[in-house]
Amino acid sequence: MPYRSSRASEPTASQSTASQSTASQSDGSRSDGSRPDGSPPGAPASGRAPQGTGSLISARGLVKTFGEFTAVDGIDVDVRPGEAFGFLGPNGAGKSSTMRMIGCVSPPTAGRLRILGMDPASQGPQIRARLGVVPQRDSLDEELTVEENIWVYGRYFGLPRSVVRRRATELLEFAQLSERAGSVVEPLSGGMKRRLTIARALVNEPSILLLDEPTTGLDPQARHVLWDRLFRLKREGVTLVLTTHYMDEAEQLCDRLVVMDHGRIVAQGSPRSLIEEHSTREVLELRFDADDHSRHLADVDGIAERVEVLPDRLLLYVADGEAAQGEVARRGVEPLSALVRRSTLEDVFLHLTGRTLVD
Ligand SMILES: Nc1ncnc2c1ncn2[C@@H]1O[C@H](COP(=O)(O)OP(=O)(O)OP(=O)(O)O)[C@@H](O)[C@H]1O
Ligand SMILES: [Mg+2]
Repeated sequence: MPYRSSRASEPTASQSTASQSTASQSDGSRSDGSRPDGSPPGAPASGRAPQGTGSLISARGLVKTFGEFTAVDGIDVDVRPGEAFGFLGPNGAGKSSTMRMIGCVSPPTAGRLRILGMDPASQGPQIRARLGVVPQRDSLDEELTVEENIWVYGRYFGLPRSVVRRRATELLEFAQLSERAGSVVEPLSGGMKRRLTIARALVNEPSILLLDEPTTGLDPQARHVLWDRLFRLKREGVTLVLTTHYMDEAEQLCDRLVVMDHGRIVAQGSPRSLIEEHSTREVLELRFDADDHSRHLADVDGIAERVEVLPDRLLLYVADGEAAQGEVARRGVEPLSALVRRSTLEDVFLHLTGRTLVD
């Protein structure tokens, strides 16, 4: 793709290590800007991992505390070159805290963290030069135009004007924002702003793109456009690391993921393997005219491997949903509605934690 065609070879050894001043910032994307970057144009990274190496990101016993509170509680993570890796978890699970440590803007309290084979404590600037960061909240300059936002960011990276202009044109095309290049950012839709933030994060041709809840708050169509863009990046060899509390997003985008809850990893694997390991093939959802659905547990006794009671329905975990539905009918049980569906990561999360992902 055009926006990645000008990639140059590794410059990291020549880059300055002078600036560690951004460690306290919470916004990873801005922190790159203050880096005195002596790197040549288009230099930051090889998008593909160096041959023969293992993990691009490796964490062991990673901990983040805020005062007495432990936000990330000793997690082990390995992200492999070229994969899309997800952190799935509900609000407060510790996803952003983890992402900020990986983004080298928040120092780990304890544990070992290596990114691109480097140590964030001593090599933050070199690592950040090879990361693209899409923070949970867009940090665009709303008063500038769409393309000015990319120019400013490119200049933060020390790229020459001519390179920045060329990349901005290519990236705006990629983000389907060319027609809005000269518009100020403020009135853009949420989806457009998100795409611009992603385009901006790509200006340094990063090896790893960190995306903290890339599609939260967007409508389904805007989400699909974004997913499409992320698929393209992945095809280009960019390693994607994303957080989400949308299980469908995790299933769509992630090759592998960890399920986080209360700062810990409660399960990990591919979406398919997680579902196979922690759920049944199908789920029969039964809704009754009842305030308390547990009153209907006796009606379905013995039909399912497992039954979850939610405020508005019963979930019957079964291998064959239609057969289970037939058995419900044979018993003369008459729910208001019955729906057979495949198991999802939401079911996995519910099984592991007893709670739903989005409250
Ligand atoms: N700077 C901070 N100071 C104190 N507590 C913090 C700080 N940052 C995060 N926390 C706390 O750490 C916990 C994890 O927060 P974090 O933002 O990592 O969660 P999250 O999984 O990203 O949640 P969400 O889905 O809501 O974005 C929360 O309880 C949060 O209040
Ligand atoms: Mg978060």
